[in-house]
Amino acid sequence: MKLQHKHILGIGDLSKEEICLILDTANNMKIVLESKNKRTPYLQGKSVITLFYENSTRTRLSFELAAKYMGASSANISASGSSVAKGESLIDTAKTINMMGADVIIIRHPMAGASHLIAKNVGASVINAGDGMNEHPTQALLDFMTIREEKGTFDDLRITLTGDIMHSRVAKSNILGLVKLGARVTVAGPLTLIPKDIEKMGVRVSYSIRDSVRDADVVMGLRIQTERQKNGLYPSIREYAKFFSVDDKVLKLAKPDVLLLHPGPVNRGVELSSSVIDGPSSFITKQVTNGVAVRMALLFLLTRRETNETAD
Ligand code: CP
Repeated sequence: MKLQHKHILGIGDLSKEEICLILDTANNMKIVLESKNKRTPYLQGKSVITLFYENSTRTRLSFELAAKYMGASSANISASGSSVAKGESLIDTAKTINMMGADVIIIRHPMAGASHLIAKNVGASVINAGDGMNEHPTQALLDFMTIREEKGTFDDLRITLTGDIMHSRVAKSNILGLVKLGARVTVAGPLTLIPKDIEKMGVRVSYSIRDSVRDADVVMGLRIQTERQKNGLYPSIREYAKFFSVDDKVLKLAKPDVLLLHPGPVNRGVELSSSVIDGPSSFITKQVTNGVAVRMALLFLLTRRETNETAD
């Protein structure tokens, strides 16, 4: 099977089979990643450009390392150090990168739909590395990889997403994929941080952290996104943490083998206590490693759409 899409713009576009193909390919890439010599020639002769209009540690670095491990030429452009700062438009910037021979352009942008706009204007494959409050598909894919590695299946798995569901592109991508894969998803947080009608996406809503976590197989904390929030959604960060932070007592209500995830960066003591972040249920560091494997898999699959080559 091949990837049917030229671009990775959202989890909503991918079939269950395509998600499984990406995860299977990422498993193979992880073997490369864990070997002494991480180099493969899979992307020799290809160019990968990361175009980041928002801050990032994990996503940007993992794409850059993924490209390097696979032998691609790679470069990064950030808004502040480029002609964007002189007023160049997003489309003109993307067309300029495209005309220098980019095979894959990876973009993070505060505007929802930015990656879709670029995809319509360039010949390169485009990967959405987070667009405003819309989607963050590669983060969701690495979350799925981590869940599948530890639990083996998604069927009827009880997965709780807690925190700022309203402003989280990670929440949206995870919900779209996890429901498609057969999991039972609950979202939890204060009323003001849960989008109206989110039940229509096939999730259960809870306004109680204890209720939402009870008997969960997976608990995923999501960052309080102060940069996107209006004022007055909750009295204070301290008040939010008092009622919605996942700590040892809350996590004990989940299944004994619960998997604790967080996309990072984590606000310690807000969405999760330090004791659970550093505790035995936490797979947050494993998510980071899987992020490189998933991004290697995506670069491989997008640049191999015309061939039958696999990563076995
Ligand atoms: N999870 C995530 O997108 O992290 P960065 O903002 O560090 O890329």
